[in-house]
Amino acid sequence: MVLPGDKSISHRYALLAALANGPSKIESFSPAADCQSTLACLRRLGVRIDATGTAVRVIGAGLHGLKRSRRDLDAQNSGTTMRMLSGILAGQSFDSTVTGDSSLRRRPMGRIIEPLRLMGAEIGSQNGGVAPLKIHGKPLHGIEYSLPVPSAQVKSAILLAGLFAEGTTSVTELVRTRDHTELALEQFGVRVDRSDRTLRVRGGSELHPQNLAVPGDLSSGVFFLATALILPESNLVLHDTGVNPTRAAVLDVLAGWGATISLLSVREVAGELVGDIAIRNSPLEGGVIEGDQVVQLIDELPMLAALGPYTERGVEIRDARELRVKESDRIAVVAENLRRMGSQVEERPDGLRVGGKSAGKLHGAEIDPAGDHRIAMAFAVAALGAEGKSTIRGSECAAVSFPGFYDALEKVVER
Ligand code: S3P
Repeated sequence: MVLPGDKSISHRYALLAALANGPSKIESFSPAADCQSTLACLRRLGVRIDATGTAVRVIGAGLHGLKRSRRDLDAQNSGTTMRMLSGILAGQSFDSTVTGDSSLRRRPMGRIIEPLRLMGAEIGSQNGGVAPLKIHGKPLHGIEYSLPVPSAQVKSAILLAGLFAEGTTSVTELVRTRDHTELALEQFGVRVDRSDRTLRVRGGSELHPQNLAVPGDLSSGVFFLATALILPESNLVLHDTGVNPTRAAVLDVLAGWGATISLLSVREVAGELVGDIAIRNSPLEGGVIEGDQVVQLIDELPMLAALGPYTERGVEIRDARELRVKESDRIAVVAENLRRMGSQVEERPDGLRVGGKSAGKLHGAEIDPAGDHRIAMAFAVAALGAEGKSTIRGSECAAVSFPGFYDALEKVVER
């Protein structure tokens, strides 16, 4: 199968294309509601965007061509939209308000407000750090910032603000996070200096329009890899999938657990690695996920946890407190739904331990994903191997990252 375009990369290509001086074409743009939120916000900022299916044409307004939006910018469920766009808006010559849905209005924004303020930005928030954010556009200056929380969204917000800042902006990360922003900036002609763990951009760099194709989204692909591991005698190939090393740790984890998985025809497309992933149903050992690994697997953890009952030893996740401030409290919501299906789960402040096969087979249950797309999809997959029927409440939230997910799953299972 071919997966929809990568959500993280689509956000970045859209934002950078909007700042470029002329028209860019983006093929296989993610159909995720989150990426549509980014496009909608950009349109409100005066950027012309024509979308035909997954082909998107963005008429870049130039680095200083965005216009004030009379209405609030609504990022809906998308933390990436809110955080990255705020970096861009902080350095404009106009004011903006960025808001989101009830989930996004609970998520921590202090992590971008603090560094952007150090750059000279003026940003008001609610209750000491949540959206709506009132951004009073101001001239910015470069800073040297070391990320206290490993977050690609925060790193990206600072680098994007750096485009509008006087001098050089540098960000140091102690744990490596996804590097799509750096790669995309380079594609659009911005020089990014990288030495060890520090990235530097200079303010005022012009962006040149590009024709780009987005690789398939491995974070969506993981639901199908897990399906192949749950259903006996499965074979599946995920074509043209993004396997950027800062995103592909899930392949190493599954291989380490015993999955028969291979990566074929790896090639570079616009700085991103792309390949075909072949997987065959195989017995899974399970194991512990901890430390720096967590950052590179962050979006795959709900599915890996829900695979626990299908493994010999079970699955344990540590050092993942960050999961509590995602689209839902993913530790609590995964634990609760696994329990509903009869799994043995121990919830901890920074993770959970899920019992393996010896703890018993899962049974069907009513699942409440708390409006969180990745949890809805993870449990649809976990339910495939359970005894009896499961129902997922508000299952349509999957569209946040994967509209048409259940149809795609049905097709893969039927084959
Ligand atoms: C993303 C980064 C991650 C990830 C999110 C998308 C991105 O968040 O969980 O789904 O596109 O930069 P953090 O960087 O905040 O950990």
